Amino acid sequence: TDNYRITLLPGDGIGPEIMAVAVDVLKVVGKRFGINFEFQTALIGGAAIDETGEPLPVATLDACRNSDAVLLAAIGGYKWDSLPSNLRPEAGLLGLRAGLELFANLRPAKILPQLIDASTLKREVVEGVDIMVVRELTGGIYFGKPKGIFTSETGEKRGVNTMVYSESEIERIGRVAFETSKKRGGKLCSVDKANVLDVSQLWREGITKLSAEYPDIELSHLYVDNAAMQLVRSPKQFDTIVTGNLFGDILSDAAAMLTGSIGMLPSASLGASGPGVFEPVHGSAPDIAGQDKANPLAQVLSAAMMLRYALNQPTAADAVEDAVLEVLQQGYRTGDIMSTGMKLVGCRAMGDALIHILES
Ligand code: NAD
Ligand code: IPM
Ligand code: MN
Repeated sequence: TDNYRITLLPGDGIGPEIMAVAVDVLKVVGKRFGINFEFQTALIGGAAIDETGEPLPVATLDACRNSDAVLLAAIGGYKWDSLPSNLRPEAGLLGLRAGLELFANLRPAKILPQLIDASTLKREVVEGVDIMVVRELTGGIYFGKPKGIFTSETGEKRGVNTMVYSESEIERIGRVAFETSKKRGGKLCSVDKANVLDVSQLWREGITKLSAEYPDIELSHLYVDNAAMQLVRSPKQFDTIVTGNLFGDILSDAAAMLTGSIGMLPSASLGASGPGVFEPVHGSAPDIAGQDKANPLAQVLSAAMMLRYALNQPTAADAVEDAVLEVLQQGYRTGDIMSTGMKLVGCRAMGDALIHILES
């Protein structure tokens, strides 16, 4: 049997609920395909702050470094919202991404035929949508310096962040994006704000230069404001999108709604080497936490991405993804994807239905 060490980071809010479902799914899949998972759970985010005083304890980063892959649920919540930025739960997640050098975040947004009626957009607009957002994850305005809240001589405060990309950062994310689009539809759209931002001008130059090495990929460029509009107007024009950290954060939430719910979208955060982190695109959903209402499918699909990208277990990944299609086919729906005539279930019941399918 294949043996893998997996670090689980359930985090906050709905995190523990959806993680429990994903772990049960992995256990069943492990049994079926002869994969042995050695799970270890570690603290991150608000849960880590409450227990240790910091959002990313050293022990957590060490545990992640010593694993084959990391499965993360979500962090954050009202309770920690007034802490300074470096002590917030979000700082734990950013520290994890930086610490493991996970510069490439793959966020697939694919409409499943069973969920077309769950989308807020018209059937003909979303049918067949299959987009991959390649988001740069360890640079840009999230990490640029100077950053902070500074008090000037007059006593007025100024909040400062800096959007910065170096040529090498642009090239390495660009390479991931070109390679990704090569395996997909062969179309890459780079999204920036080069009409206003110098950092985006360098971005566009870097991506354009790289395109000489990928003559078979059809490259286009869009300004981010237009890209946001086009995503909603006519999403089928997109195949692969590459963009910076902040624009990618925003556009991937928008792309999520094409598929019916952000509760459906998984992601993979990858570096040049070392373990990747597999995490839903959504957050800790504090408004529904602890109520057994969360959709666990983004978390389960993130586990499938982990099987595919980190553990090289494509058959097991296919089985999980097929089970998700089947559970939707059987009519099971959590509140976020509910439509008339379907069976409304909670997080746990959705998980049980999945496990039933995987066991049969
Ligand atoms: P959110 O994604 O947590 O929630 C947005 C809306 O989507 C909410 O109405 C929520 O109920 C719903 N939703 C999200 N996931 C769902 C699921 N699986 N099933 C059903 N409904 C779901 O975003 P937010 O409310 O802006 O942020 C809440 C907290 O999460 C904040 O502290 C934020 O910083 C954090 N956050 C964390 C991550 C992460 O851990 N990767 C990502 C985004 C936001
Ligand atoms: C995401 C989240 C994070 C981000 C936050 C919680 C730091 O919104 O993973 O999309 O902005 O990257
Ligand atoms: Mn986000």
